[in-house]
Amino acid sequence: MLHISTPLPSKEEVHKMVLEWGYVPIQPPAGIDLFAEIERLKRAKNAVLLAHYYQDADIQDIADFVGDSLGLSQKAAETNADMIVFAGVHFMAETAKILNPTKKVVIPDLNAGCSLSDSCPPEAFAAFKAKYPDHKVVSYINTSAAIKAMSDIIVTSSNAVPIVGALPSDWKIIFAPDKNLGLYVMRKTGREMLLWEGVCMVHTIFSHQKIRALRLQYPDAELIAHPECEPAILEQADFIGSTTALLNYVIQSPRSRFIVATESGILHQMRKAAPSKELIQAPAEYSCSCNTCPHMKLNTLEKIYNALLYEAPEVTLSVDIMEKARRPIEQMLELSRDLGLLSKG
Ligand code: 13P
Ligand code: SF4
Repeated sequence: MLHISTPLPSKEEVHKMVLEWGYVPIQPPAGIDLFAEIERLKRAKNAVLLAHYYQDADIQDIADFVGDSLGLSQKAAETNADMIVFAGVHFMAETAKILNPTKKVVIPDLNAGCSLSDSCPPEAFAAFKAKYPDHKVVSYINTSAAIKAMSDIIVTSSNAVPIVGALPSDWKIIFAPDKNLGLYVMRKTGREMLLWEGVCMVHTIFSHQKIRALRLQYPDAELIAHPECEPAILEQADFIGSTTALLNYVIQSPRSRFIVATESGILHQMRKAAPSKELIQAPAEYSCSCNTCPHMKLNTLEKIYNALLYEAPEVTLSVDIMEKARRPIEQMLELSRDLGLLSKG
């Protein structure tokens, strides 16, 4: 990070930095209380800070709302704030922008992408879709705006099963991009779907064998897993759900020990909400901390402070893409409301 003394850089200088770095690489003044300054800037600018459960604990603690992808898109759709600071990954901030085209949406670091979203490039997907002109496209929210614009309806890990289950039975469906979630939805709904072969780099590293060994060691522990995990993990799981669903399960279950197969950030809220429960992170195949999402963890308090102060990097999209992508997102929000899937967060 660069050390800058007053006066603050101009908009043009900030823009150049963002083009080069993907974020504003300026060191906040020495000695400031970042928590207090972020609060002050949020109030002064009528900004709301939305954070995903995979963010670092201090970011979750300072956010106005912490949630899963569905809860965050519901909050983004209903906010009265003038500016949204999205502490998550790029597709989440894009979704907030699509739902609020006239508001400023900033993300602490534009480099915070998603391996799953990246596994579905728009040109390749357009060519795939063209081969099946009689199919509708159901896309997971972990996709770029360009893929959403080619979709009929969006789903998240919270609502994929009930939404696909509620779609007209004569629809032939392409499901993209997560093949593990797609297989899970097919198993739960009994519907055939054509699957795009994408996966998440974090949820596919859990070791089936090591988890089996842990279950022998702790026979009372329940295995809870995100549906992006491999089928071998999901087959053993006692409960499968989105991050919010996993959190609620830990709170409500009478059991006291859980093996948690998802990104490590969710453990913060689980520990806060259920301090007496023992949480064991599902082990990865290799000795690494790869159950930490490298994209989510690019966001820091310093970058959030800068995003608020400099109102950059801003998420921008073409009007045409936003209009095309909004319809399937709104379809999802409406169906989720009809199905009673409202996130409390
Ligand atoms: P949620 O739908 O649980 O928020 O999951 C999003 C995600 O990126 C999982 O890797
Ligand atoms: Fe994408 Fe996986 Fe990170 Fe979720 S955990 S944001 S799916 S790379």
